[in-house]
Amino acid sequence: MRGMRSAAKQTEPSKRSYAMSLRQSVLTLWPYLMAFKGRVLLALLCLVAAKVATLLMPWALKEIVDAVDGQRQQLLMIPVGLVVLYGLLRFAMVFLGEVRDALFGRVTEHAMRQLGLKVFEHLHSLELSFHLDRQTGGISRDIERGTNGLSFLMRFLMFNIVPTLLEILAVAVIFSLLFSPVYALIMLLAVGLYIFFTVFITEWRNAFIRAANQADNTTNSRAVDSLLNYETVKYFNNEQHEARIYDGFLATWEQARLKNRLSLLVLNSGQALLIALAMTALMWLAVTEVVAGTLSIGGLVMLNAYLLQLFMPLNFLGFVYREIRRAVTDLENMLGLLTRKPSIADKADAAELTIAGGAICFQRVSFAYQQGRPVLNDLSFEVSAGQKVAIVGASGAGKSSIARLLYRFYELNAGQILIDGQDISQLTLSSLRRAIAIVPQDTVLFNSSIRDNILYAKPAASAAEVDKAIDMAHLRDFVSRLPEGDQTLVGERGLKVSGGEKQRIAIARAILKGAPILVFDEATSSLDSLAEQAILKAMRDVASQHTSLVIAHRLSTITDADRIVVLQHGRVIEQGTHQQLLAQQGEYARMWQQQAQQKESS
Ligand SMILES: Nc1ncnc2c1ncn2[C@@H]1O[C@H](COP(=O)(O)OP(=O)(O)OP(=O)(O)O)[C@@H](O)[C@H]1O
Ligand SMILES: [Mg+2]
Repeated sequence: MRGMRSAAKQTEPSKRSYAMSLRQSVLTLWPYLMAFKGRVLLALLCLVAAKVATLLMPWALKEIVDAVDGQRQQLLMIPVGLVVLYGLLRFAMVFLGEVRDALFGRVTEHAMRQLGLKVFEHLHSLELSFHLDRQTGGISRDIERGTNGLSFLMRFLMFNIVPTLLEILAVAVIFSLLFSPVYALIMLLAVGLYIFFTVFITEWRNAFIRAANQADNTTNSRAVDSLLNYETVKYFNNEQHEARIYDGFLATWEQARLKNRLSLLVLNSGQALLIALAMTALMWLAVTEVVAGTLSIGGLVMLNAYLLQLFMPLNFLGFVYREIRRAVTDLENMLGLLTRKPSIADKADAAELTIAGGAICFQRVSFAYQQGRPVLNDLSFEVSAGQKVAIVGASGAGKSSIARLLYRFYELNAGQILIDGQDISQLTLSSLRRAIAIVPQDTVLFNSSIRDNILYAKPAASAAEVDKAIDMAHLRDFVSRLPEGDQTLVGERGLKVSGGEKQRIAIARAILKGAPILVFDEATSSLDSLAEQAILKAMRDVASQHTSLVIAHRLSTITDADRIVVLQHGRVIEQGTHQQLLAQQGEYARMWQQQAQQKESS
């Protein structure tokens, strides 16, 4: 009991915010309801009609019993009509309920669709770093639960909570009129206690429900992460290790569910006890009256029917309150995603990029992913329109980061990046990104066909354009050897094609995009030298009409660049043409020497 009280105290502040979240949720739902005014109104009419039929049923039952019991002469006549009426009422109750659900289902599903889409779009508008920090499995669960919560709230607030409260009041009035106010009082007292008890215990249980949800989320994320790393797990024979970690999460989940269930036992049995007590008291009263002759048998039957009818949805009310509580939390989680402002977004007065030749200029750029760990330091270099500039440097020097900054995946800490003299932070993201085609260092493909993956760059492209891109990326040979040609599926994240094939698909799709600025980040690192030479030639052909930035480890692939920028620890230490840099006898010359030696010895 002590534990219970302290737990309830802890949830005290959240109670107030819960009322606010409920209000917030209702406010969120309102526009969706209003979009379908006619349907909602019809559904409400069905609801009222069904309730009236429900309330008439026990009365019809009473009349039937009394007619039989009274042994009147017209015995056969009256009950036939009443029995038929009873059946009709029963049918109306169920049928109207179904019609109501069918009418309202469309409203809920449409709201789910709209909200689901809104969240999905919003997730895509959030910056890269958000996605690198979050676990995809967790997010998709949040969305799933949130949209389900939405549908639950809409259905149950409208069609369960409010109508049940109205029914209670109606039954109280009927009891007062047909029996005596004492009956109504006992019934109302029981219902009041019941609601109070349900709310109180549910508040207490909430912590357990949350813990179970949390455990469910982490378990799921872990399973997804582990399965995504299937190959890695095998490389290190770590199946047992993975299973142990997963089982650890499952154990937490099991514990959380256990507490959850035990507290549910407390709730359900308490509710059942309250109902049983109320029914006993009322039946006791009624039976004494029947014995005293002040109440007919039909009256007793009617009372019983009303109580059964009333407590049935009330029994449900406990469940509904719990679920609404949960639905509000789930919806809040999902809406929480929506309130997160994208940190990379168009400025209010963002301009469209106008491309003159695609000249790129990094001006004193400094950047760090995390504070205290600088990646780029006061970095400046230029790529004139139509030029090909190479960036070389050790692993981790910040080369790929340059490409990410150009694409504005992150904001700079200092300095500016200009394209044709326009500061990219002042441009619309879509105009900026339309102008740049990137072949990333690690290409991830969609789980669809080779052709679809290439078409992704430009869905409206003609077949001839795609074929040309396939030819230029030297994919033709590979594709024509496949039984299903370019319709071959590439597997999840493109794992069913080789690294070099994947790179060539990425090159083809960058070519198809046809952007004025091209960025190749180690685009040929997985290719053999023959294929590499062929691709380099193709890249040269493409690049001749474009501005291009080429990041490379193998210096032999970039000797023809108009300029080579040598990066070390996020600074430019040398730049010039291949010949100039060799003549300088600096870092580049040293790297060149080293790679030449390696080539000879291999
Ligand atoms: N999202 C991130 N958050 C924090 N640090 C990061 C992130 N991405 C990269 N880094 C760090 O920034 C530094 C530069 O990374 P970058 O990917 O630009 O290197 P790189 O020059 O392309 O190296 P490589 O030749 O190996 O591809 C590295 O030390 C890396 O660990
Ligand atoms: Mg890199």
